[in-house]
Amino acid sequence: MKEILDAILSSDSTSADFANVKLPESYRAVTLHKDEEQMFAGLASRDKDPRKSLHLDDVPLPELGPGEALVAVMASAVNYNTVWSSIFEPVSTFGFLERYGRLSPLTKRHDLPYHVLGSDLAGVVLRTGAGVNAWKPGDEVVAHCLSVELESSDGHNDTMMDPEQRIWGFETNFGGLAQLALVKTNQLMPKPAHLTWEEAASPGLVNSTAYRQLVSQNGAGMKQGDNVLIWGASGGLGSYATQYALAGGATPICVVSSPEKADICRSMGAEAIIDRSAEGYRFWKDEQNQDPREWKRFGGRIRELTGGEDVDIVFEHPGRETFGASVYVTRKGGTIVTCASTSGFMHQYDNRYLWMSLKKIVGSHFANYREAWEANRLVAKGRIHPTLSRVYSLEQTGQASLDVHQNRHQGKVGVLCLAPEEGLGVRDAELRAKHLPSINLFRELDERSIQTSRDL
Ligand SMILES: NC(=O)c1ccc[n+]([C@@H]2O[C@H](COP(=O)([O-])OP(=O)(O)OC[C@H]3O[C@@H](n4cnc5c(N)ncnc54)[C@H](OP(=O)(O)O)[C@@H]3O)[C@@H](O)[C@H]2O)c1
Repeated sequence: MKEILDAILSSDSTSADFANVKLPESYRAVTLHKDEEQMFAGLASRDKDPRKSLHLDDVPLPELGPGEALVAVMASAVNYNTVWSSIFEPVSTFGFLERYGRLSPLTKRHDLPYHVLGSDLAGVVLRTGAGVNAWKPGDEVVAHCLSVELESSDGHNDTMMDPEQRIWGFETNFGGLAQLALVKTNQLMPKPAHLTWEEAASPGLVNSTAYRQLVSQNGAGMKQGDNVLIWGASGGLGSYATQYALAGGATPICVVSSPEKADICRSMGAEAIIDRSAEGYRFWKDEQNQDPREWKRFGGRIRELTGGEDVDIVFEHPGRETFGASVYVTRKGGTIVTCASTSGFMHQYDNRYLWMSLKKIVGSHFANYREAWEANRLVAKGRIHPTLSRVYSLEQTGQASLDVHQNRHQGKVGVLCLAPEEGLGVRDAELRAKHLPSINLFRELDERSIQTSRDL
């Protein structure tokens, strides 16, 4: 592994150097163990501790298949899917691997008693498989997490529609939270040259998801002047949705749960901010019943912030806890676009507010190849910025996942894999200098809030 890292850190390595670098027989990776699937049985979700289920193991190097690339991973990131995997909810990811393994002898490689997690990476291509011409050893890349087979015409217009669509590192093996990773080369995109490895690794999954969900015609198709209600506006998805709304001439109405998170949204440029904790919304009276008066109070607060207007789009992902309110506050003809159900997937809402006011509920999931490419292009151009707040080592991935599980993080949480320290990998210092305050925004506010809590 040292030889690989030396080649990456050296400024004069050629593609031939990378093609000739000796590959190790095994590598270090963050894994789940199949024989521990039941380890949290009977516990409430909040008591399931990712530090207990995530292991750092030496695993054998997988065989490289046609159309694939082996990538040296400099940095990766924790996504909420890392949390879902690590607590085996809503189902164990080993079921995904078993099903994928039944497809072909090549996919059978994924069905193992361990699962290497991780749906983001920034790194360097080491080898490419048969039939790959667009990428070569030595290319500095990021990878999006859409894995598709594309043998069915269903996915030929919109690759998310492929019947064999999977999220790499969640529904497939050999993910990015490791020193090496295996991807299909159609997942590769150029690494934004002005970012460090850990910054470049952090937007991928959430940035692409927010792009499809909010901007793309496959999602809400946001336009200039739209009011966009964004739940968790400083979180993984929300921190990108907020940027897209601002960059696209819309008005984000940011919902967060603390003054620190409200500060982050303000620093990004948002003006309409609701602190849901301070304002104490209780959309559910009890386990079964919601409280429409609370929906109304929430809608009233939105109107106060917008000068009397309702929202054109709700960027939904909390699910059960907020969905009734989201449907209620959307304006006539507006869109509730949802990509998740963090607080529960059995949603309840009053359908009269949907049909009588001609509202639409749109389901959205990750992004197709092109949407992921467009989203990465905006990062590479310095139009959309990483929202990295904190960086952990590969050994600390369990703690990083616990932070996200307990909602103690801001924006994105990064993980160093092969990179020996933060700050490496910048190739375009000029573009970086231009955007430095925006690139560092989440990190600086996180450091400030740590300092404040130390002082108290
Ligand atoms: N379908 C897809 O392709 C896709 C892609 C990415 C993520 N997801 C899913 O989307 C969800 C969010 O992901 P993420 O990366 O944004 O996670 P995240 O970084 O944890 O951010 C989510 C934010 O939502 C807010 N939130 C959480 N529970 C809430 C509740 N009950 N009511 C209101 N707000 C709540 C929190 O913000 P405040 O506390 O500040 O309000 C939290 O910071 C996860 O379930 C994830 O699996 C789906």
